[in-house]
Amino acid sequence: MTTPEQNDFLAQTGPDTPMGRLVRRYWIPALLSSEIAEPDCPPVRVKLLGERLIAFRDSLGRIGVMDEFCAHRGVSLWFGRNEENGLRCPYHGWKYDVTGQCVEVPSEPVESGFCKKIKLAAYECIERGDVIWIYMGPPDHKPAAPNFEWATVPPTHRFVSKRTQECNWLQALEGGIDSVHVSFLHRHDLRSDPLHISQGAEFTRDTDARFEVIETRGGMVIGVRRPATAHQLYWRITQWVMPFHTMIPPYGDNALNGHAFVPIDDENCMVWCFTHHPTRPLSTHELDTMRHGGGIHVKLLANSFRPVVNKDNDYMVDRMAQKHHKSYSGVKGIAMQDAAIQESCGPIQDRSKENLVSTDNGVIMARARLRKGARAVMQGEVPDGLDPATHAVRSAAIVLPEEANFYQAAADALVVREGIAHASV
Ligand code: FES
Ligand SMILES: [Fe+2]
Repeated sequence: MTTPEQNDFLAQTGPDTPMGRLVRRYWIPALLSSEIAEPDCPPVRVKLLGERLIAFRDSLGRIGVMDEFCAHRGVSLWFGRNEENGLRCPYHGWKYDVTGQCVEVPSEPVESGFCKKIKLAAYECIERGDVIWIYMGPPDHKPAAPNFEWATVPPTHRFVSKRTQECNWLQALEGGIDSVHVSFLHRHDLRSDPLHISQGAEFTRDTDARFEVIETRGGMVIGVRRPATAHQLYWRITQWVMPFHTMIPPYGDNALNGHAFVPIDDENCMVWCFTHHPTRPLSTHELDTMRHGGGIHVKLLANSFRPVVNKDNDYMVDRMAQKHHKSYSGVKGIAMQDAAIQESCGPIQDRSKENLVSTDNGVIMARARLRKGARAVMQGEVPDGLDPATHAVRSAAIVLPEEANFYQAAADALVVREGIAHASV
């Protein structure tokens, strides 16, 4: 059973919390490169792990992510003028460079050197896979660059989107680990979503699912088996890489999908959605489908990362579709089904009231691993999942003989092999 104290320990990621310190040891997807596409473009607000930040690209194309508020009298630098290699507060003209260093205070004589004493907290950034990642941890512990396959394939092979979700990051992550819900929550979409239809999708509709979880160096693999043909089992194998990356088992010839569930604050998270194919560009049909909210992606409100289908409109639930077996929950679209269900638990699920069963083993082990990671950081140790080699893994969907050990049989399929497509039925 999870106590309320353990629940807080897992869910809270503010700067002074154990889980917050753990998550700050990793490169964190912060914003899409396209949000600050050009030098001197408008600055963008970014909230991560409870910290309000501002991101901008200066005249030379350098990226800055720093405290949102001016050091003078606290104005939001979202109103800032991004010009001549710095962001200038529009209230009294104080100017900051990408490192957060104040470089100009117009009211003070230059000779006074006053501005040199002013510096906003700023974080290091790296641009990879059309995403700007930031590192919010102790500078001397900065890890090597992230090495997830979706981020290293050519841009033509990848599609990235993100959406806000109105709940704590952990309950979103737990949905990504608990792949058994697919047979229920998404069962009708397996036959209707163009990026899911496959023989594997038909096997996935079988609710007789058994779980096996294997701990790996960077996280876990979660194998879920269902009956396939005579004496054979259909295995869907999910990867979880610490602390918040999941890789969804593929369907047929479709591309690979994955998520990162990044805390915005304790009651909201950003769900990053990555689709990539290891060996070919995504087709026009695939791209069009995803841009229109197909697959794991969703339609967003204009100039926002909030989904069109959301809590305020009761997720546009269609009770007739639910009654007539067109949608198991009545919510349209795979991603919004997940979001609706997970938000419905409340901003932070009270885990002291839950009753776990054998198919929750992945969730149980992920919680234990996160707690262990947070304790390791508190004791000055290095947490798992920092080594880029642990990122170069894949999910898989395969059919194996009944007696096979899935982890051994799928060993090759579970790592990135350049030039070789993923294993999928
Ligand atoms: S508040 Fe920013 S310059 Fe005065
Ligand atoms: Fe789901």
